[in-house]
Amino acid sequence: GGVGKTTLAKHIYNQMLKNESHVNVYWVTVSQDFNIRKLQDDIIRTVGVTISEENEEKRAAILRNHLVEKNVVLVLDDVWDNIRLEKLGVPLRVKGCKLILTTRSLDVCHKIGCQKLFKVNVLDEEEAWNLFKEIFLQDDHTVLTDTIENHAKELAKKCGGLPLALNTVAASMRGENDDHIWGNAIKNFQNASLQMEDLENNVFEILKFSYNRLNDQRLKECFLYCCLYPEDHRIWKDEIIMKLIAEGLCEDIDEGHSVLKKLVDVFLLEGVEEYVKMHDLMREMALKIQSSWLNLSALKFQRRNIGPLNWREFPCIQVH
Ligand SMILES: Nc1ncnc2c1ncn2[C@@H]1O[C@H](COP(=O)(O)OP(=O)(O)O)[C@@H](O)[C@H]1O
Ligand SMILES: [Mg+2]
Repeated sequence: GGVGKTTLAKHIYNQMLKNESHVNVYWVTVSQDFNIRKLQDDIIRTVGVTISEENEEKRAAILRNHLVEKNVVLVLDDVWDNIRLEKLGVPLRVKGCKLILTTRSLDVCHKIGCQKLFKVNVLDEEEAWNLFKEIFLQDDHTVLTDTIENHAKELAKKCGGLPLALNTVAASMRGENDDHIWGNAIKNFQNASLQMEDLENNVFEILKFSYNRLNDQRLKECFLYCCLYPEDHRIWKDEIIMKLIAEGLCEDIDEGHSVLKKLVDVFLLEGVEEYVKMHDLMREMALKIQSSWLNLSALKFQRRNIGPLNWREFPCIQVH
């Protein structure tokens, strides 16, 4: 995750929307909690066909008829499991219907029977540094002295070429010109990589760096609040700001907008005009922070042998 699959697919999708007027291009996000019925509903809604039939197989047949020979390109982003396309109603190897999918798993590609595979690689050292520098210098007040450049290069290397990590780490170090803080940041990363057994955990540790750099408890809690929304959910700004105010995490609408802007600026949230989104890895990281907080507190209560938990003390609780 975080390597740029969705970004690349979105680019292809936008190019097709622009250039290929005779092709109908559709985008559907799949995500981890997928099931055939929900995905079928999403595709039906996206392609704009009305199906009142309830039976899954009949719905699949109607959808298939609708898609065949209509010059359709369907993009399925973030596929986790082998999807039985025939059950879904998406025709495969049929004239006029093409499927583009992104997934973290090569196995999924094989099982679905993809004809062409493209591996999205992490950035090489030079590309990674260029991206880090670009994001770091977006702020007019940030200057790149020789010493900071050396530190920054070292920190960029620790991001393993992952654009998501490079963006968020570079953004969170903007304006920082204290040598000691840079030194400490690099040391933090070394500790992280020593302690963690696998890359996945390392990624979380790197992303958590930006979360820790927020240095403002309220901002942190607002960020954590966003993981209560389902994966890949559009979080409408107006709606979440009302919730943050109701939770006592923001005073008013202006503060709500400023909080969201700060989180988008450091890439902890992805921002579009009227809504924000949480990248799936960021959401997993936020959930990890929530659950370790919850476990720790539960342990503390247990040790102290205090009765039922005081839920009001928890910043945010998710119920599965
Ligand atoms: N080539 C790139 N250059 C700069 N930023 C990128 C690049 N590819 C992806 N990103 C950024 O990295 C983050 C993660 O990308 P995304 O496409 O969501 O990854 P994935 O789908 O593989 O998890 C996004 O914020 C995106 O804007
Ligand atoms: Mg993605």
